[in-house]
Amino acid sequence: MGLALQQAKKILGNTNGNPAVGCVITQNGSMISAAHTSFNGRPHAEVNALKLIPKNLKNSKLYVTLEPCSHYGKTPPCIKEIIKKKIKKVYFSVFDPDIRSFNKSTKTLKKNKIYVNVGLNNKKIKEFYKSYFLYKNTNFPFVTAKLAISKDYFMINKKKKWITNVYSRSRVHLMRSLHDCIITSSTTIINDNPLFTCRIAGIEDRTPPIIILDRNLRLSHKLNIIKKRNSKQIIIFYNNFNRKKINILKDLGISAYKIPLNNNGNLDLKRVLIKAKKLSFSRIFLESGIKLSKSFLKMNLVNHLNIFISNDKLKRIGDDNIGSFLKKYLKNKKAKVEKVNLFNEKLISYKIK
Ligand SMILES: NC(=O)c1ccc[n+]([C@@H]2O[C@H](COP(=O)([O-])OP(=O)(O)OC[C@H]3O[C@@H](n4cnc5c(N)ncnc54)[C@H](OP(=O)(O)O)[C@@H]3O)[C@@H](O)[C@H]2O)c1
Repeated sequence: MGLALQQAKKILGNTNGNPAVGCVITQNGSMISAAHTSFNGRPHAEVNALKLIPKNLKNSKLYVTLEPCSHYGKTPPCIKEIIKKKIKKVYFSVFDPDIRSFNKSTKTLKKNKIYVNVGLNNKKIKEFYKSYFLYKNTNFPFVTAKLAISKDYFMINKKKKWITNVYSRSRVHLMRSLHDCIITSSTTIINDNPLFTCRIAGIEDRTPPIIILDRNLRLSHKLNIIKKRNSKQIIIFYNNFNRKKINILKDLGISAYKIPLNNNGNLDLKRVLIKAKKLSFSRIFLESGIKLSKSFLKMNLVNHLNIFISNDKLKRIGDDNIGSFLKKYLKNKKAKVEKVNLFNEKLISYKIK
């Protein structure tokens, strides 16, 4: 089951609303097949793993991280394929919260004389599916916020574009690839002119779509993100309607949605996330400056917080100090902390909720 989880981790954030599932098949104690859910969610992991084995195998066992599906959706049910390939024993770790499948597979598998075991590695795998459970059981997607700060807590270096080193920044690219959507602000896009892509060899195609919060439609078509990224991957959330600008966006192939304001006159972040979920995004990576990040954190909308800390103090060339806010914010949180060293820099990950 540990190997099945490793398979699932490979495709996290790239399954288009479907869960990232890993599957391993063994025979006489040896692994004979391993697979995960396909890019964009189909075919499922079990079907991919079963494809690799011959028919009528004796003593075969199938290990899968999530309960196999038992309904006809866009693909036939996985249990049908499991029965067809005459698997003898099925081990799955957690039940699928999708009501079309929840607790339905065991009965059919047992009817076909297949042994079923539920719960292996359950604790670890439940943690892995936190974002999927949230997506299925609530109106909200899972939000990971990333902050890059100097040793003295500044978020902006007035003299240089970057706060952290190349290793930390690559790690951010990797994190992007494990999410299905980035959220940022028009302020960050206008000030920094970034691309927000996954620029690591081998995962460039895993750059997630981006939602830009642009209340007054301030973005210009001359910005890198508009010029260089696939327009179908750019989504604008605005409030102040401007027909001319909306038509320009439409002509560029960019979609735009109106979001209501909160009492402070900003976009309502709960409505932002609800809309993101309706657009099928389940794992959001938030990359913004101090104002938007603080708003998300204050409203308790962040599930994981990743703080990259450089080894330099910026002192007078630093701007937007988030130190006192973070100390207060983290004090009341029962966060589980993981630390990673990145060549003199530090990544501290807080599992907030
Ligand atoms: N160190 C880091 O990790 C990091 C990461 C990203 C950016 N940055 C830096 O941060 C700078 C920008 O920081 P910033 O604080 O000015 O901008 P920001 O936090 O990126 O964005 C603030 C803007 O977000 C929009 N927004 C929409 N809904 C909001 C809400 N509910 N609450 C608050 N804001 C909302 C507002 O723009 P509208 O009025 O258009 O709605 C607001 O002005 C950039 O220049 C960049 O260099 C640092």
